[in-house]
Amino acid sequence: MKVLLALFFVVFVDVVTSQLIPKCYLMKAEMYRAKKGQNTRLIGGKPEETAIVDNDGIYDPVCESNGNFKAVQCNGTDVCWCVNSAGVRRSDKGDKNIKCEPVDTYWVRLEMIHKGGVGALDVVKLKTGIQNALLERYKISKDLVKDVKYDDKGRMIVVDVQKLKGDRTVDLSLMTYYMEKDIKALPLYTNSAPFEVSVEGTKVSMENILVYYVDEVPPTITMRNLTGGIIAVIVVVSLVVVAGLLALFFLGRQGKARYSKAQARELETMS
Ligand SMILES: *[C@@H]1O[C@H](CO)[C@@H](O)[C@H](O)[C@H]1NC(C)=O
Repeated sequence: MKVLLALFFVVFVDVVTSQLIPKCYLMKAEMYRAKKGQNTRLIGGKPEETAIVDNDGIYDPVCESNGNFKAVQCNGTDVCWCVNSAGVRRSDKGDKNIKCEPVDTYWVRLEMIHKGGVGALDVVKLKTGIQNALLERYKISKDLVKDVKYDDKGRMIVVDVQKLKGDRTVDLSLMTYYMEKDIKALPLYTNSAPFEVSVEGTKVSMENILVYYVDEVPPTITMRNLTGGIIAVIVVVSLVVVAGLLALFFLGRQGKARYSKAQARELETMS
């Protein structure tokens, strides 16, 4: 019983605190972890408890005259929400009167899985390669690439790109936008090569990318926006708990019933 309750609690807490990462990506990471026999998520995962991922996909944005995202976005409907400087939703969905402040994303974590066949990479050389690639391709200066972690068994590369809070001269959203397009879909640039990192002359290309955004002000998303899949998990776990309780209850009753019948028989033989 205690185990069931604990399980329920763990699932519940996990659902409340985590953003909705695409299931396919979670499964992929899990497979790599399993192959390695340990937790490759140790090098990746959320950079901060308040980090968000983009689970909404594309919408029709309203832009400021300088090209920034307006803090309120409605996708041409009556349902509106707040976005950060990268255009990623950072509030629950509300009506047209929702109040939003402009909030800058100052830190992004790129969690990439590179394609196989290049052997284990040297992490120092890898960092240099990534700095060069981000500078050439997205004009991100090298000193913004703060940290690069690498797990060779999981082929996972985790890159933290961070600017000073309050710095409005750098926009990290462009890099993430182009990178996601470059890695997941067709490159946006015509006649451009796919995103590649050169490590000691070896070209390393990426198979997948997940981007975490950390905003200067924490987001205000609550668990009202659970997707059907996660609600289904909660329902199933709740049902298991209820079934367990019922089973315990009926087993208890049966035990008592047998006991009282035996008592009755004993009384009869005595008389
Ligand atoms: C925005 O609207 C389009 C078309 O109406 C829809 O396909 C898309 O899913 C919407 N995006 C969001 C984030 O609501």
